[in-house]
Amino acid sequence: MKKLNWLITGGLGFVGRTLIAELLKQDLAQAIRVVDNFSTGSPSDLQPVTDFSLVTLDNISAMSAHSGIEVVKADIRDAEPAVKVTAGADVIIHLAANTGVQPSIESPRLDMESNVMGTLNYLEAARQNQIKQFVLASSGAPIGEAEPPITEKSPCRPISPYGASKLAGEAYCSAYNGSFGINTIVLRFSNVYGPLSGKKGSVVAKFIKQALAGETWTINGNGEQTRDFIYSQDLAKAVVKAAYHPKGGEIFQVATQEETSVRELADLLSAQIKEVFELEVTIDYGEPLIGDVARNFADITHSKQVLGWQPEVKLATGIVDTLNWFREKNK
Ligand SMILES: NC(=O)c1ccc[n+]([C@@H]2O[C@H](COP(=O)([O-])OP(=O)(O)OC[C@H]3O[C@@H](n4cnc5c(N)ncnc54)[C@H](O)[C@@H]3O)[C@@H](O)[C@H]2O)c1
Repeated sequence: MKKLNWLITGGLGFVGRTLIAELLKQDLAQAIRVVDNFSTGSPSDLQPVTDFSLVTLDNISAMSAHSGIEVVKADIRDAEPAVKVTAGADVIIHLAANTGVQPSIESPRLDMESNVMGTLNYLEAARQNQIKQFVLASSGAPIGEAEPPITEKSPCRPISPYGASKLAGEAYCSAYNGSFGINTIVLRFSNVYGPLSGKKGSVVAKFIKQALAGETWTINGNGEQTRDFIYSQDLAKAVVKAAYHPKGGEIFQVATQEETSVRELADLLSAQIKEVFELEVTIDYGEPLIGDVARNFADITHSKQVLGWQPEVKLATGIVDTLNWFREKNK
């Protein structure tokens, strides 16, 4: 595969850093430019993955092989920097977002500004700079409450502002493919876990951090709610496939097609925590969270057949790798 100039929004985050590690491993980067507002990610988070230079919006130039790996501080809600930072890119991987259901319930407006306006800004930048390939990180949230497995054809009825804003982003991707011929690919990630997730509040990372702090786990609801847990490196490989996918206007589920209840996850995780850290975990049950769906897993037939991607890492293996990463980090 040809080496590309990769523009990655939100590249200091969990998925972004995992992707950068994968690009370097597969030697697919001519240059990488990260755009991030440092709200959750920080440049020091990228240091364990790679060396890079910090550049400012004032001294930035069009991306070229000489750019190496750069980090630029900019907010995706601002349209002007988007055009400037994307010049010379071959592909935009749009990861920056207001992530997750609960923050969107706390501030639906911020969620809309980041996930709708932010996505529009980078699609517009792609149009103006004639960038042919655009990959959007979406989620299962646009679909809302549905009988699983969800597929790319499941009707979308979001039950959270986050689902609505991601769905709007998907709609703009479809529109920019239809009107301007940009190869837009939407990837609907299921629940991502893995190394580099030290700042995440999602269930696997949260439970590990709580166990290490000696805190009790709280399962919201009865624990029967199910999720589809995808290992971060498998997901990064799907993003790479999408970046080279020749046909736009596509949506792909990036998931495992395996349904795991939160209770099953807690059992698996607590057993491994006992083995790796010699810690006993206690579990409490709390109220179900507003906006959370009861059951969720995705059918990945379309991703296998059309994107040529499928996950490789089983949950039990991925959990051990994640725990080992937390152990190394805490040394
Ligand atoms: N992690 C998951 O389980 C999961 C599941 C489904 C979808 N997604 C989507 O994948 C993408 C990446 O998720 P992640 O887990 O890496 O999140 P993350 O929070 O770890 O990373 C997001 C990054 O974006 C940056 N950012 C946030 N708002 C910004 C803004 N307005 N301008 C510029 N930068 C901004 C943050 O500083 C952070 O570095 C997001 O779009 C998220 O909605 C993630």
